[in-house]
Amino acid sequence: MELARFLHGSADARTGGQTLTHGRAYEAFGNVFFLGHRRRVFTRLAELSGARPGDRVLDVGCGTGYLTLRMADAVTSTGQVLGLDPAPEVLAHARRRAAGRPHCSFADGIAEQLPGPGGEYDVVVSSLMIHHLPEDVRARAVAEMYRVLRPGGRLLLADFRPPANPAARHLVGAVTGPVMEHNPVHLLEPLVRDAGFDGIGTGDLQPWIHYVRAAKPGTRR
Ligand SMILES: C[S@@+](CC[C@H](N)C(=O)[O-])C[C@H]1O[C@@H](n2cnc3c(N)ncnc32)[C@H](O)[C@@H]1O
Repeated sequence: MELARFLHGSADARTGGQTLTHGRAYEAFGNVFFLGHRRRVFTRLAELSGARPGDRVLDVGCGTGYLTLRMADAVTSTGQVLGLDPAPEVLAHARRRAAGRPHCSFADGIAEQLPGPGGEYDVVVSSLMIHHLPEDVRARAVAEMYRVLRPGGRLLLADFRPPANPAARHLVGAVTGPVMEHNPVHLLEPLVRDAGFDGIGTGDLQPWIHYVRAAKPGTRR
């Protein structure tokens, strides 16, 4: 369906991930889709990530930067947040949105090949991104998140949890496409465990979010 293609964008030659091409439309859809709870849900995700003032944070697949900005609030101006996404149009939107917050920046990048030698972030977050990746790339992306975290660093992955009610789920599928209708969020936890994380916890935030949080073994600074 056309709206699904519009929302999920097109394949990026570097990744096979479905990248977004319409930042403003995604924003408008996101506000409606969360039924007025978007701010509350993403503020809670930022809290659950364990980010503290002064932390260095990476937001993978940041899109228009909604969670990135919540993370920037959490780390305050003493910290630093970098949002990464392969889609130039949404990055432009995110940069406009973060104007006046020098501790919040955005760059081109893909989840399966994160920049940097490794061990540079206190917290890595990623929301609604994993379902944009082909299934055979997801483990590689989570392994990269592990690599770039410091020992004791925290991971928070959040993704769309399809409604349990079959009619509601079908409606979601009709609007957003089959990937979201059948999104296997229960596979996030084993993905995180297999990458080497421990201290794993999971939960749901209404209306649509399932999250997994975890730590890289080691002592947090
Ligand atoms: C549904 S949006 C979520 C954006 C944002 N995190 C949020 O919660 O609103 C999914 C994002 O993943 C990005 N994406 C797709 N393939 C990717 C990849 N291989 N690496 C990083 N991001 C990717 C898309 O461009 C898009 O911005």
